[in-house]
Amino acid sequence: MQNSQISSDSLPQHIAIIMDGNGRWAKEQGKPRVFGHKNGVTAVRKTINAAVRLNIKAVTLFAFSSENWQRPEEEVGLLMELFISVLSTEVKKLHKNNLRLRVIGDKTRFSSRLQKKIQDAEQLTANNTGMVINIAANYGGKWDILQATKQLAQKAVDGELTVDEISEEMMTQHLTMSDIPEVDLLIRTSGECRISNFMLWQLAYAEMYFTPIYWPEFNEDSLADAVSWFVNRERRFGCTGEQVKALMNNQ
Ligand code: FPP
Repeated sequence: MQNSQISSDSLPQHIAIIMDGNGRWAKEQGKPRVFGHKNGVTAVRKTINAAVRLNIKAVTLFAFSSENWQRPEEEVGLLMELFISVLSTEVKKLHKNNLRLRVIGDKTRFSSRLQKKIQDAEQLTANNTGMVINIAANYGGKWDILQATKQLAQKAVDGELTVDEISEEMMTQHLTMSDIPEVDLLIRTSGECRISNFMLWQLAYAEMYFTPIYWPEFNEDSLADAVSWFVNRERRFGCTGEQVKALMNNQ
């Protein structure tokens, strides 16, 4: 197959990633867990660059689950500081590259300083027309479905709709990412093969790609391998990671 045969139609439009293995990677280096998270930011940068080059429409990254509050207080605090520092240093670059940043999840539990950083970043990039980057933070798939259900129940109570009128489309419209296509490709690193309460509704038809690579080691080539796996699942003939990498470099 020639490179030119991998058309943008065969590529995933929306890629979701469960970034896992920061702690185990750091432990292998004899370093504290936060060292893994810091190197995880480098992997995020590489992944976003590669996704932009492949003309992917949306990337959703699971940065902090509703369950992650149970981690030691020190690690949670350091993760929050890391989010603030990443937002401070990266957002202007994202904006310059016409990328849109959005944080999905229950933001009310974050400090007012972090909430303000998120709001500023979302506002600055709101009208950008390039790839959408969704950061899932204090996010849970069950929470998302529950908040959509509550909105619909309230509308029924207020007489704006009847129970019979509630449809799949209506549920989809009330979820946090109603404006972008459902996930085509889910990637989870570190060898774990679970969804872990990530986007439950939006993953209904996603292809699931599990790789043993720890998140801090994930890079442009790893994304190309995942995308070529996806293209082959869809089209059932042998595109290689090399061909996706060539496409990435030709954009
Ligand atoms: C999972 O590894 C990773 C996290 C819970 C945090 C992810 C955060 C980053 C990659 C850095 C910041 C990212 C953004 C988008 C600002 P783990 O700690 O569960 O690793 P383990 O399973 O080996 O313990």
